[in-house]
Amino acid sequence: MNRKQTTLLAAAVAFAAGCATAGPKDDIQALANKAIAESFKPGENQDLDRLKQDETLRACNQYRDNPPEKVAAAINARATGNIKYPADGKLMGDWKTGEKYYKMGFAYRIGTVEPDDPKKDRGGNCYACHAADPKELAFGTLGPALTGYGKLRGASDEMVKYTYEKIYNSQAFTACSQMPRLGHNGILTPEKIAHITAFLLSPESPVNK
Ligand code: HEC
Repeated sequence: MNRKQTTLLAAAVAFAAGCATAGPKDDIQALANKAIAESFKPGENQDLDRLKQDETLRACNQYRDNPPEKVAAAINARATGNIKYPADGKLMGDWKTGEKYYKMGFAYRIGTVEPDDPKKDRGGNCYACHAADPKELAFGTLGPALTGYGKLRGASDEMVKYTYEKIYNSQAFTACSQMPRLGHNGILTPEKIAHITAFLLSPESPVNK
């Protein structure tokens, strides 16, 4: 999307949101979805499959990320039920490899700077939202700082399992979480998630120094 398209899209969404009297909520949602879908042009090497909403995303959009308890519980249960684990069953991998994938920014991106390529090595772009190694100064703050995460929380079997599953699908714990469903959406493999889990929990990792 170029800037003009983005502005048009923002206007369309604002218009759709403001037209409460134009029709039932579903129509407004459909209008917004259509505006978003049409703003992406095929042929720009973008993976337009991303625009298809699954049941969870639809529910989160419908309730503006604040679903009623029953819907939230169903989202948690669905996410938990779909978690896959590494073939060797080890949820703690190698922290150095984990650091690489924690840092690596290439995941899905919007636009044509680099085309989406399913064969390309992908990382979780975790620093975009979470501080971790105190020596790394470039990080976003949408998510909580994970500096000292393993030192503070320990590396018990429960913590390892929680951390692995949180990264695999954040919505197993927090329905409509803003954290991407990195394992669920195939951005990270189970093995990469196990390495990142070690980066967060291992006493050897700079996160816990
Ligand atoms: C777009 C922002 C975003 C990205 C990218 C992101 N997260 Fe998160 N993450 C969040 C938010 C927001 C929370 C807190 C709310 C929640 O739990 O859903 C969170 C929570 C967490 C937690 C739970 C912290 C706790 O105190 O229990 C862990 C662990 C975590 N993220 C790890 C990661 C890792 C590892 C990556 C990269 C593979 C990552 N996150 C990528 C936004 C993000």
